[in-house]
Amino acid sequence: MNILLVGSGGREHALAWKLAQSRLCTKLFACPGNPGVAEHAELVALDPADHAAVLAFCESEQIGLVVVGPEGPLVDGLADSLRSVGVAVFGPGKAAAQLEGSKAFTKELCARHNIPTAAFKRVASLDAALAALNGFPIPVVIKADGLAAGKGVTVAMTRTEAEEAVREIFSGRFGAAGAEAVIEEFLEGEEASFFAITDGHTVVPFGSAQDHKRVGDGDTGPNTGGMGAYSPAPVLTPLLEGEALERIVVPTVRAMAEEGMPYSGVLYAGLMLTPTGVQLIEYNCRFGDPECQVLMQRYDGDLAELMLATAENRLGTLPAPRFSDQTALTVVMAAEGYPGTPRTGGAIGGIAAAEAEGAKVFHAGTALREGRLVAGGGRVLNVTALGDSVSEAQKLAYAAVNKIDFPEGFCRHDIGWREVEREAMS
Ligand code: AMP
Ligand code: GLY
Repeated sequence: MNILLVGSGGREHALAWKLAQSRLCTKLFACPGNPGVAEHAELVALDPADHAAVLAFCESEQIGLVVVGPEGPLVDGLADSLRSVGVAVFGPGKAAAQLEGSKAFTKELCARHNIPTAAFKRVASLDAALAALNGFPIPVVIKADGLAAGKGVTVAMTRTEAEEAVREIFSGRFGAAGAEAVIEEFLEGEEASFFAITDGHTVVPFGSAQDHKRVGDGDTGPNTGGMGAYSPAPVLTPLLEGEALERIVVPTVRAMAEEGMPYSGVLYAGLMLTPTGVQLIEYNCRFGDPECQVLMQRYDGDLAELMLATAENRLGTLPAPRFSDQTALTVVMAAEGYPGTPRTGGAIGGIAAAEAEGAKVFHAGTALREGRLVAGGGRVLNVTALGDSVSEAQKLAYAAVNKIDFPEGFCRHDIGWREVEREAMS
């Protein structure tokens, strides 16, 4: 079977690496891909927003499965266009992708179906938002409703900061994504990510991870797309994972089917482990980046087989996904300036030396200039290692990071710190 992968980041390099190993994969294409993806796939210059062009390509290359990596094309309905002509696709349609595309949609779905999440108020104007703030204690969380490239959420520690956040949203800074906002109660606890694969009926757990969103060591500085991750996240114990599945993920999948928007693909639940139980922070309708990189390092199965069965509504016929017992940990190497304006063009070397240490280096924002590998985006490389504990995986990943020659890059030096501290105490 020929497969088309949509996307260009480290997540897509990890997916390409795993798809290329599938016994079902005859030829892998990727659009637009990156130099790492190109090790496994033929890159094609297709615009995922041009659905007609993607459909024509699928027909001419006899594509048997399309895998959509990022949220943008899913929220934009690419999966619906493909399904309407009978092309199998891994990823939800437009209506189901609202779980990521509209925070208000998700909060209201949770309210209708009694799914545990922070108390909230949906507002559609600055005046309504300012009035609603009176009903919430500080800290309070303010979110633009739509996709805002990870910049639409503010955890406001003062009333002034909260007011600034709502003013920013209703100033139009986020375009249509800021036409509405959600104001919500601040939840206390440790965060963990939980993944499930579903075809709309069957739901199977697909592992846990913990991300590191802040740019600086010790979780300081501005938010990023994620500076590193590890999997599994032991803080999400089997008991808590069961609670997340039974009280949050399965009821959501059931609710989406009941309401005529069956969800198919991977459902990424951002969870807060609070003293009173697991609460949903948010959903994403795709794999996390860099969480996907650590999940793929541990996943033992045939990814194309799993994704095709999901796309064809027969997930229940497969055995449950199996994972290595080891911990995978990935360190993101970013270009100086990230998450502001990253300095692109910096030379990158040492990948082979890092991989000789036993690590796997996924390309995120890399580019080829005159045959040389350079930084082409904010997050550039994901240096990933497997170990018997988080501490060991961390040690191996940083040993490999030290082999990378990327003078205009930087990374956090403490990925996995919460768990490394717990391991040191036990
Ligand atoms: P993002 O992934 O950019 O949407 O950022 C959301 C981040 O904001 C989460 O990872 C949490 O750290 C934080 N957050 C969102 N909602 C809440 C909440 N209700 N209580 C506490 N923190 C929250
Ligand atoms: N790493 C967080 C995300 O992919 O949303």
